[in-house]
Amino acid sequence: MVITIDGPAGSGKSTASRKLAVSLGVAYLDTGATYRGVAYHALELGADLEDEEALAELARNIDLQLVPADDGVRVLISGQDVSTAIRTRQITSLTRYTAGSALVRSVLVELQRKIGRELGSFVTEGRDQGSVVFPDADVKFYLDASPEIRARRRTDELQAAGTNADYDQILQSIIDRDRRDIARKIGPLVKPDQAVVIDTSDMDINQVTEAMARVVGERT
Ligand code: C5P
Repeated sequence: MVITIDGPAGSGKSTASRKLAVSLGVAYLDTGATYRGVAYHALELGADLEDEEALAELARNIDLQLVPADDGVRVLISGQDVSTAIRTRQITSLTRYTAGSALVRSVLVELQRKIGRELGSFVTEGRDQGSVVFPDADVKFYLDASPEIRARRRTDELQAAGTNADYDQILQSIIDRDRRDIARKIGPLVKPDQAVVIDTSDMDINQVTEAMARVVGERT
């Protein structure tokens, strides 16, 4: 069983995907971690992030593993746990080089398919999963919410974690990231044709997960 979940940052995708995978007893594939992982690795190695060929070569050779864990997935690069290090604001911003490169995307799409083959049954989350990476998926979802709601959620999350967070700045970075994700020629953020669209603006995570589980139950 292959279930794809696409949508913009802050739509509730990550938490809902993880919860859905647990409730179905299948694996969870976080494809954003592959774009983040390559950006992180490039920074560590001092690679030129604007050199697409160099980034693609790095992506071809990266030893990146996604290891299932209680709280979702651990991300390992050459055996080192980088799960937290790839989620800083700096790396989030640098993913524009990896996600924006057609060359890097073609390498990472193959890596995601390979991980998928190894997992067998899984819930996968990203921007292009139902459209490009797993077009034959059994069930496809597209989660959405307004930029303002997504910015509010992210601000609350950061403040709850004791981090300084400015709502206006976060809203602007969400709008910028959406624009880049939608505008790129290869693997843009789109609603796949057969996707079930869920607007999560007025829903909590449990409601989102339950709604998806109901659809999966009806379709499989
Ligand atoms: O989902 P997450 O925020 O971890 O994704 C990090 C970045 O990677 C996103 O900004 C997006 O541009 C990119 N991405 C992508 N395609 C995917 C998953 C993530 O372009 N399938």
